[in-house]
Amino acid sequence: MSNKIIAGNWKMNPVTLKDVKATFTEIKRSVGSVRGVSVLICPPFVYLPELKRLSLGGKVEIGAQDAHFVDQGAQTGGVSAYMIRDLGIKTVIIGHSERRAGGDTDEIVNKKILTALTAGLRVILCIGEAVRDDKCHYLNTLQEQLEKDLIGFPIKLADRLIIAYEPVWAIGKNATRVETPDGFLHNKIFIRKVLAGIVGRKKALSVPVLYGGSANATNAGDFLSVGQADGLLVGRDSLNPKNFAEIIKIASKS
Ligand code: 13P
Repeated sequence: MSNKIIAGNWKMNPVTLKDVKATFTEIKRSVGSVRGVSVLICPPFVYLPELKRLSLGGKVEIGAQDAHFVDQGAQTGGVSAYMIRDLGIKTVIIGHSERRAGGDTDEIVNKKILTALTAGLRVILCIGEAVRDDKCHYLNTLQEQLEKDLIGFPIKLADRLIIAYEPVWAIGKNATRVETPDGFLHNKIFIRKVLAGIVGRKKALSVPVLYGGSANATNAGDFLSVGQADGLLVGRDSLNPKNFAEIIKIASKS
């Protein structure tokens, strides 16, 4: 059985280094000797070096929340995938809906993915529809995102791809409702089918598909068992060490 991936996307939190260190140290301690789970924390860029240092000797990996599509140069405020890699960080989230809302088109997401892969990073590609309709037209959005975001994807690097399915309407404290584990499973099967057309059936079957969107200590078990999620991309509950530890414990048993 392959490891479940429990990733925390801290977004633009916490706002002090003191809180960052306290939250991370608590998570690192609670992960302790847990088996069968890969734990990842993706903090804001400014905290990457410090958390990378604090993560040494533990089981929590550090990842980045985004990376520019240009290697280096005149990109004010930009952070290069090569800078991230140089810190010893191996994973980057790309295509999160909050970045898409800020202007990341599928074309930009595609370029970011290809640059991140060239820099040697593993990519968590976030996809998800803004609106869920009863006739399943939203599946066209998922297909389009995958096909456009993965144009030119080197098939031999499929083991460095993770998909996070995050329906936009289920994300954050203003979520209108939460995805069901059954609904997730339906979408995971569809995502794998589309991926098969991009990287081939065999490789598509080994690409982990995570669920994200108000995943928490209460619903984690159902998403991982009934929903057969290969892991979770957790927002708010990853900033609560007690709840995040509970999610990791659940994942280690599922
Ligand atoms: P929440 O868990 O806060 O809904 O955030 C989900 C998310 O966007 C993770 O990337």
